[in-house]
Amino acid sequence: MNILICDSYGHLSEKAAEMIARQVNTKPDCVLGLATGSTPIGTYAALTKLYEAGKVDFSRVTSYNLDEYYPMSPENPQSYRYFMEEQLFRHINIRPEATHVPDGATDNPSATCADYDRQIEAAGGIDLQLLGIGQNGHIGFNEPGATLHASTHLTPLTEDTIAANARFFSSPEEVPTHAISMGMGSILRARSILLLISGKNKHAALSQLLSDKVDPLCPATFLKLHPCVTVLCDREAYDG
Ligand code: GLP
Repeated sequence: MNILICDSYGHLSEKAAEMIARQVNTKPDCVLGLATGSTPIGTYAALTKLYEAGKVDFSRVTSYNLDEYYPMSPENPQSYRYFMEEQLFRHINIRPEATHVPDGATDNPSATCADYDRQIEAAGGIDLQLLGIGQNGHIGFNEPGATLHASTHLTPLTEDTIAANARFFSSPEEVPTHAISMGMGSILRARSILLLISGKNKHAALSQLLSDKVDPLCPATFLKLHPCVTVLCDREAYDG
């Protein structure tokens, strides 16, 4: 694991955007794995700036997002599909049909999940997977106790995650209790991984990641088993 400590969230965001742009410039028809949450917002803003400056072209890129609440309609402003449209897709020239977010409105989640993994495989697999991290060390919605080989699946959210994500809803009762998430197995199949960690509230999760233990109670530690992971963290997350 390669760890880079950035002075600030702004610096972390610029560095992450540069790395993603480099991936796209090296392989214009690459497959990006994308993430939601507040952490990648700065990265998406910095990527938009690079696009507007003519430094990166997304016209041949395909993307797959990590997760979506369930049940959740894509038009709902709380959905991860809506988030991606607002924060990135509508600002750049990625083809709408090349962007994928798990379907939170499906009435057959298990078929939807199996199909998502098949689609990623048929697209040639993910070249670069962008990740954030939950305070409890979750990745996507792979909560503590996750299994290493899990593929895309429907999962209940923990009380901790519901509480942490309640800030985006008017009340904790409105946070969906489930999500469709790529599994740790699907994530670890990506050829390279870029994990963003920002803020004091992520210090404990980062410390576990920096320890030498792989612990299913902190699913982020599974990333230590991957040969090509870069962790970009800011001072606040590192120092605590
Ligand atoms: C959600 C998402 C994760 C994300 C996490 C942290 O639960 N499913 O993919 O990493 O939140 O979000 P934030 O960056 O807002 O702290």
